[in-house]
Amino acid sequence: MTVTIVGSQLGDEGKGALVDLWGGDADIVVRYQGGDNAGHTVVEDGEEYKLSLVPSGAVRDKVGVLGNGCVINPRTLFSEIDDLRERGLDPDVRLAKRAHVIMPYHRRLDNIEEEAKADSDLTVGTTGRGIGPTYEDKAGRRGIRVGDLLDPDVLRQRLEYVVPKKKALIEDVYGLEAGEECDVEALVEEYTEIGRRLREDDMAVNCGDFLAERREAGDNVMFEGAQGTLIDIDHGSYPYVTSSNPTAGGAATGTGVGPTVVGQGEVVGIVKSYLSRVGEGPMPTELKDDARDEELADFIREKGGEFGTVTGRPRRIGWLDMPMLRHAARVSGFTGIAVNHLDVLAGLDEVKVGHAYELEGDERLTMPATTERWGECEPVLKEFDTWPEVDWAAVAEEGYEAIPDAAQDYLEYLSDELDVPIYAVGVGPGREQTVHIENPFDD
Ligand code: IMP
Repeated sequence: MTVTIVGSQLGDEGKGALVDLWGGDADIVVRYQGGDNAGHTVVEDGEEYKLSLVPSGAVRDKVGVLGNGCVINPRTLFSEIDDLRERGLDPDVRLAKRAHVIMPYHRRLDNIEEEAKADSDLTVGTTGRGIGPTYEDKAGRRGIRVGDLLDPDVLRQRLEYVVPKKKALIEDVYGLEAGEECDVEALVEEYTEIGRRLREDDMAVNCGDFLAERREAGDNVMFEGAQGTLIDIDHGSYPYVTSSNPTAGGAATGTGVGPTVVGQGEVVGIVKSYLSRVGEGPMPTELKDDARDEELADFIREKGGEFGTVTGRPRRIGWLDMPMLRHAARVSGFTGIAVNHLDVLAGLDEVKVGHAYELEGDERLTMPATTERWGECEPVLKEFDTWPEVDWAAVAEEGYEAIPDAAQDYLEYLSDELDVPIYAVGVGPGREQTVHIENPFDD
């Protein structure tokens, strides 16, 4: 059995909490794309864990795998693993030998390019973690893979080819001075040592084979998508996207199982009850038109803790965007959804959703394919009855029927529009603050 978890919006939908919740029935949790640009907070027994690379299942003693579709910064990885060990956990993390490694020059170049774009509307607002430049090198066939770290001769050969090119880029194209990120000897030394640790701890695997063996032995696998549909490199709002495929197709290409394996399982879209966005790009339902909107956005931002886990940046806030969700449900083929942060909308004076868009006098239910056209869309808002603040812990305990009626109407509208059942409703940050409806691992 497999369950794939996909962000339906722009990332930060609260995927970690559900991965952690349902991960109880998984034996292995596999990330299939992205790197330490992701940030998930898992709350367990009142302890908060902020992770960016280690799959959140590691908090629950699962095997965590970083698939070949990921880009891995070993410095971040080992710092997170060491931190978890210090807090008494013993995470079992495996890395695909085919995954690409984020090198120090990737991070430098990410920041240099953002800086170079600063005066144009091409700025992406990246997390500065070197994600884009690493995927560029992967596609350009000049990347360093986890498997290369295990063989110092191969590592040296690859670095001796690629580093002078990065140095030239930094110095000749951008007119800056290259630093220790371009020191081949220092890189060989540091990354050979990382390779030694990977070998010693038996962490590097052939991901596809590893998963096939474990599935053969009857293990349940959860594929954990990072980021969200609208920042998918193919299906998102290009160029304001990340450089990988958070949508469900990525679970196959990013791990080495067939698409039929993913498709025979459940694909659950995680939806936040409203919208948030870090970084640039259109957001038709953004709350920013007047002082009242801004006040509402501030309120939701504070109450929902809408500040980047990785960067600390305040997130932009908007109403739920249904054309976006219809797009997400189709691209990934959702079999169900989980709706998070319902409690954050409680006690507001108004609750709306963007039901459709208006573009050049036409009403449309789905998103245009170009970002420029998307930016021209005006939301057609639908207003809902508001619901009061209640004891959400009690609601989580009592179940779906205890959710205020107006909030149930909101949820049912969502489920009807997307034509999928709701498996869980998040009413607070902790795992226990979730209304359980159905566990996707149950037959
Ligand atoms: P990058 O992934 O660092 O290259 O950033 C590309 C875009 O994706 C930027 O707009 C980031 O803010 C956004 N992004 C990357 N990771 C996340 C995430 O985990 N949550 C929300 N936005 C993200």
